[in-house]
Amino acid sequence: VNTANTSMGHYWKYFAEGVEYTLIIAAVSGIIGVLLGVILALMRLANNKLLKGIAVGYIEFVRGTPLMVQVLFVYFGVGVIINLPALVSGIIAVSLNSGAYIAEIIRGGIDSVSKGQDEAAKSLGLSKTDIMRSVILPQALKNIWPALGNEFISLIKESSIVSIIGVTDLIYQLNIVRADTYRGVMPVFVAMVLYFILTFGLTRILNHFEGRMQHDS
Ligand code: ARG
Repeated sequence: VNTANTSMGHYWKYFAEGVEYTLIIAAVSGIIGVLLGVILALMRLANNKLLKGIAVGYIEFVRGTPLMVQVLFVYFGVGVIINLPALVSGIIAVSLNSGAYIAEIIRGGIDSVSKGQDEAAKSLGLSKTDIMRSVILPQALKNIWPALGNEFISLIKESSIVSIIGVTDLIYQLNIVRADTYRGVMPVFVAMVLYFILTFGLTRILNHFEGRMQHDS
């Protein structure tokens, strides 16, 4: 007779840890991804052919290979040189991946600010850096924000792939609970609801900031 407690509530700590890891990976990767994305976007928009080439090549390559392979590559590839914990490998891989997507979001936002703005600012005698910083970027940010929000939502969901290298995220934990309880569906359902709570909560937060941005204009 199986006397184990198979209620999901009994396993709340597993799910809580999974949520914690999923949030850590998504948040840290989001921050690094934005930094990397800004650098790559500026490289891509630069006049220097070499910088542009590196950025374009990087972005195309990252977008053209599955995140799953990138996670495995960082974990086992870097593992040849130094032994990185799975969590660190996962964060590095997801950050490197997200940076490429964010670079394109930022480039799109900058491109969407009309050429006329650029010329008007130039005719006022502003320097290139000043134009970028005080004319283009503030306007671009308004266009970038919704797409960036999508990327953060994606990060919460897509980071689930790190479970394959043993990071104890939500997917990893749901599999442990399934094995422990012999319950096939319920742990999956709980994880699904938890993911939805995370993404829906984030959407609400993002909408709040988006609304404030509209007021500011
Ligand atoms: N699932 C897709 C892949 O494996 C996308 C991954 C990342 N997407 C993103 N917006 N960062 O390549």
